[in-house]
Amino acid sequence: MCGIVGYIGPAKASQILIDGLKRLEYRGYDSAGVAVHTPAGFAVAKKTGRVANLEREAARHVLTGTCGIGHTRWATHGGVTDANAHPHVSSDGQIALIHNGVIENFSAIKRFVTGKGYTFQSETDTEVLANLIAYHYAKEPAPAADAEPSRLLESVRKSLLHVEGTYGIVVMSRDHPGELVSARRGSPLILGIGRGENLIASDVSAIVGRTQNVVYLKDGELARVTADAFAITSLTQGDDVVPVISQVNWSIADSALGDFAHYMEKEIFEQPQALENAMRGRFSEDGSTAQFGGLNVTPNELRQVDRLLFTACGTAWHACLVTEYLVERFARVPAEVDYASEFRYRNTPLDPNSLLFVLSQSGETIDTLAALREAKRRGYRGLAITNVVGSTIAREADGGIYQHVGPEIGVASTKAFTSQLLLGAMVALYLGRMRDMSYADGKAYVAALKAAPDLVRRTLTQAEHIRGIAQRYAGYNDMLFLGRLALFPIALEGALKLKEISYIHAEGYPAAEMKHGPIALVSERCPSVFFVTKGELFPKVVSSMQEIKARKGPIIAVCTEGLELPPGLADEVIPIPDCHEAVLPIVATIPIQLLAYYIAVARHCDVDKPRNLAKSVTVE
Ligand code: AGP
Ligand code: GLU
Repeated sequence: MCGIVGYIGPAKASQILIDGLKRLEYRGYDSAGVAVHTPAGFAVAKKTGRVANLEREAARHVLTGTCGIGHTRWATHGGVTDANAHPHVSSDGQIALIHNGVIENFSAIKRFVTGKGYTFQSETDTEVLANLIAYHYAKEPAPAADAEPSRLLESVRKSLLHVEGTYGIVVMSRDHPGELVSARRGSPLILGIGRGENLIASDVSAIVGRTQNVVYLKDGELARVTADAFAITSLTQGDDVVPVISQVNWSIADSALGDFAHYMEKEIFEQPQALENAMRGRFSEDGSTAQFGGLNVTPNELRQVDRLLFTACGTAWHACLVTEYLVERFARVPAEVDYASEFRYRNTPLDPNSLLFVLSQSGETIDTLAALREAKRRGYRGLAITNVVGSTIAREADGGIYQHVGPEIGVASTKAFTSQLLLGAMVALYLGRMRDMSYADGKAYVAALKAAPDLVRRTLTQAEHIRGIAQRYAGYNDMLFLGRLALFPIALEGALKLKEISYIHAEGYPAAEMKHGPIALVSERCPSVFFVTKGELFPKVVSSMQEIKARKGPIIAVCTEGLELPPGLADEVIPIPDCHEAVLPIVATIPIQLLAYYIAVARHCDVDKPRNLAKSVTVE
């Protein structure tokens, strides 16, 4: 589920592979390894921990070849050990392989190949595949010198026909140093087409340093790659697939850290620009509604939609919750939100005029992809809001909206989240204006959205103040985040951000619901972060704060400017600009991102690579 890089060309492969793995580090992993062809067979170096550990280990090996594979592993089967790290080599030494995903029927395959005399060094599901391919390779007749298809390709194809589960793999054979074979089902793979060299990777970041020309492999495709050619066939039929070469529209400079200490910090501060990019060209000329180029749904069809279903995972799921609120509030269309992982198994009844939206920064989250496929299988239209152009979800959706915020490297999602909030608010506006939102309300809504980048800029000026608060609260082990209506999902997001990067236990709750259970947690050792805004619920939120205060709970209030809180009620106040309801969730997110970030820094946590987490979760 983590990182794959393969290289074949004239240059020394090991350094290119390690550089590529470094650019994939942000995805989260627990061990790393490389294997290259050498005249004496495969040279393999692998190590638990960071790619830097692998680099030190690699220096102790002779890794001179110009064809090789590299991997960062996120363990699913077998502990985090050097032996379980990839690449895995078949016990006859013929096949070396890296794999992202899970081989579900690995036990049956293991029994089979063990019966054929193959042995195992690791506890992984992956190693069975190396041995199974070696078994088919040994059986495959050696083809005439320049015959196609190759013996390696055919043995990979035959093996994969027996595999249940998900995979993105790159395979080398000892006897054919001039080729790499790659295949995918459920895990992303991209070919990087260079001059006299080619690459294979699970993510464009590993490729953009060498070429901007890429081919996105689809599920069920198999690629044979040499230094100056590549060919794609379908796994089951063996038919040729005509490749589509796309240009990656960002370069390596877009993923540079610049003067920031962490990618998360950089991405938090990039949000004004990211929001501008996400909204650019997406308002009607009269400034009263939104417009989207790629929805592929006519206004007439959209008017007939009588139920919207939003589905996603993690932070993107929080963006769905805010969007649900705004769609119901401003477009008056019933909306529902489901975890993607639940939707696919829940057998949700859908009305004929239901429309599904999936939200996914990476466009590769397997649960979200499966939810989209499930809706499509049942004949519903599925649209996607996603950041990664060419990602699997972007390609399989019937239409959608790109977030256009550039690569998000920090594992904790920040700019992708606020841009999803913005696009969700724009969808609510678009649908609202098709129904009964007036021209004047539409104009006011658009003006408010256009002001969002500046309001976020203003909120970011609180960074030093928030850093001070973070230092005072970094020693706590529990925290509550409490908000109401569209700010309840922001409370959930605040708790998730804090948990992810600082390992502090935190819970998000609707502020009024707190008294039905979580209040039992409140003490002087459990601070609460409240979102307090103008409006009819202000006195109610203040009452909830009083209930916490009465139990000695410290209070941090994220509070709209101009509100008078009862003296002494909040221990800390973080002011945010007062603004339109559709923009408030975006603005209110900034303090909780900064708070989580500075607390994690104060606790010396590895902010960009939090333990156990992966940037995009491509296993179930
Ligand atoms: C965000 O901080 C998380 N790391 C995680 O919850 C993430 O939002 C989730 O895995 C969904 O990812 P996606 O947007 O790429 O589908
Ligand atoms: N299932 C394999 C393992 O545990 C691959 C994990 C991954 O995708 O990194 O080794």
